[in-house]
Amino acid sequence: MKKIIIAIDGFSSCGKSTMAKSLARNIGYLYFDSGAMYRAVALYCLRNNLIEGDKIDTVKLREQMDNIKITFEADPATKNSVTLLNGVNVEHEIRSLEVSRMVSQVAALDFVRSEMVEQQRNMGKQKGIVMDGRDIGTTVFPDAELKIFVTASAEVRAQRRYDELKARGDNPDYNEILENVQLRDHIDQTREVSPLKKADDALLLDNSNMTREEQEQWLKEQFIAHTR
Ligand code: DC
Repeated sequence: MKKIIIAIDGFSSCGKSTMAKSLARNIGYLYFDSGAMYRAVALYCLRNNLIEGDKIDTVKLREQMDNIKITFEADPATKNSVTLLNGVNVEHEIRSLEVSRMVSQVAALDFVRSEMVEQQRNMGKQKGIVMDGRDIGTTVFPDAELKIFVTASAEVRAQRRYDELKARGDNPDYNEILENVQLRDHIDQTREVSPLKKADDALLLDNSNMTREEQEQWLKEQFIAHTR
C-alpha cells in the first residue's frame, strides 16, 4: 500500500492529538505533534528568562534558536511519543498552563516558525506520518495526500481541557481555561505568519457531538479511501 502524509489541523483542544495518535497507531504510521514543538520553545523561553511580564525577548530568542533542539521518541513504558527538549523529556512540563499562556505568542514569531517548519518537513521525508497542528495542510505539507480540519465549540474544548488537567491531578479553573482557549483561537487565526485556516482541499470534521469511537471509524474510512 502506498505511504502518504496525513495532515490534521484545527483549533486548540479539539482532540486532534488523541485522534492523530490513535490513527497512527492503527495504521502503523509515525505520529508527530507539531504543537508540542512550539510548546517546547515556550518552555525554553520560560526556563531561560526570555519572558518579562508577558513579553518575549525576541532578540535573545532569535540569538538562541540554534541552542533549541526538539525531537520525539517513544516512551519505553507506554510506547507513546514524547517530546524532548535538548534530549530531556519535557512532555509533562509543556502541557502546563504557564506554557499554554505563552505558546501562541511564541508560535506567532516568524523566525521560530521557519525553523520548526524546516524540522517538520524533515520528519515527513519518508512519508508514512500523521502530523497534527495548525498549518500542516496549508504550509508544512501543502501536498499532503489526506488533510483533515477539526473543529468543536470553544465550550466543549474548554471542558475537555479541564477534564484532562483534572485527571492528571491539577486543580484547574474552567473559566480561566475557556478564556485561554478563546484567546488562543483569536491569536492563532489572526497572526500574520501561517494563520490557522482550513486548506481548501481539507475535509472538515466537527467533533462537538462525536464519540472517540465514531471519530476513529471516520478517520479509518478516510485513510482507506485515500490510499486505495
Ligand atoms: O496544539 P497545541 O495546543 O499543543 O498547540 C500549541 C500552540 O502552538 C497553539 O497556540 C498553536 C500553536 N501551533 C501552531 O501555531 N502551529 C502548529 N503547527 C501547531 C501549533
